[in-house]
Amino acid sequence: MSAQPAQTLLEIKDLRKYFPVQKGFLKRTVGYVKAVDGVSLSVAAGETLGIVGESGSGKTTLGRTLLRLYEPTSGDVTLHVDGQDVPIMDLSGSELRVLRRNAQMIFQDPYASLNPRMTVLETVGEPLFVNGIASGREMEERVREVILQVGLRVEHLRRYPHSFSGGQRQRIGIARALVVKPRLVVADEPVSALDVSIQAQILNLLKDLQAQYQLTYLFISHAMNVVRYMCDRIAVMYAGKLVEVGTKHDILKSPKHPYTEALLASVPRTTSRVRKRVVSAGEVPDLANLPSGCVFHPRCKYAVERCKVEVPQLRALDSTRLVSCHRAEELELQGI
Ligand SMILES: Nc1ncnc2c1ncn2[C@@H]1O[C@H](COP(=O)(O)OP(=O)(O)OP(=O)(O)O)[C@@H](O)[C@H]1O
Ligand code: SF4
Ligand SMILES: [Mg+2]
Repeated sequence: MSAQPAQTLLEIKDLRKYFPVQKGFLKRTVGYVKAVDGVSLSVAAGETLGIVGESGSGKTTLGRTLLRLYEPTSGDVTLHVDGQDVPIMDLSGSELRVLRRNAQMIFQDPYASLNPRMTVLETVGEPLFVNGIASGREMEERVREVILQVGLRVEHLRRYPHSFSGGQRQRIGIARALVVKPRLVVADEPVSALDVSIQAQILNLLKDLQAQYQLTYLFISHAMNVVRYMCDRIAVMYAGKLVEVGTKHDILKSPKHPYTEALLASVPRTTSRVRKRVVSAGEVPDLANLPSGCVFHPRCKYAVERCKVEVPQLRALDSTRLVSCHRAEELELQGI
């Protein structure tokens, strides 16, 4: 990233999304799954910020909530576009169009995310029509343009999703996200459902499109090697909270949170030896019933008494690094 202070595109303040846990015949709410629990984060225009963490850490919920695909429990999210501050959480009804024109999502599963009854033209054109951007000939022309940019052909426009491969379907999903010329794209595991052989093609396509459209990416992934390839900065999530945020270089070379170290230790060092388990000791905690103190303490090999009782706050370690660990200064952790 350049040394110039970048403009902030997205500001997330204390965002929460709790899902009610219901029991019994009367479906009484007996607790909450705190899938996103007080996340604050700034994203600079043009950067790619990786969101990493194990399955169930709240990555998808974070992405969906900040785009208002889920209603938030609380918190503020502001999108700064064209000199305007768009208060995402306050938008209602047709006001949401402002958000949809500027922020889009690419989904993990290119099989489940496309409507099988819609042609490529209808699928990709729909966001233009629904958000009052273009219709008719104008819509069709814009769809043709974006279809070519994602590496599909004009003759594909009249076909249905079933006639495409996984990689081609993901290209359709990318075209649908980009057709409105958004500023922000939340890409939720965009290649993890694809064959390894085509993952690189899609990642390279996303990089090319980022340059062409001047996009800002929030790139959700559990695969550290993919994040390493794509991202400028990395935010590490654990049990609904951010535990560490920093530049890619700092996070990979010198992690400051024991959970980040554990995630990095599971990155395969050679292609022949793929380690399956992401973090070894213990299970991901029950988000409806979190441990006391530092929620990572039952799995942390550096835990001390203080960790069982006192919740560590996310705090600035230096001008670019945030970390929530009582022992961040004293521990010497292993990077890759
Ligand atoms: N619609 C929902 N209703 C109830 N609970 C949900 C819902 N969506 C997610 N959760 C719960 O919220 C927590 C976080 O889930 P989320 O899908 O955000 O995690 P993730 O980090 O994206 O995981 P993965 O890597 O598997 O995609 C999990 O405990 C999950 O069961
Ligand atoms: S606060 Fe304690 S338990 Fe939590 S990560 Fe740091 S050392 Fe481990
Ligand atoms: Mg997910």
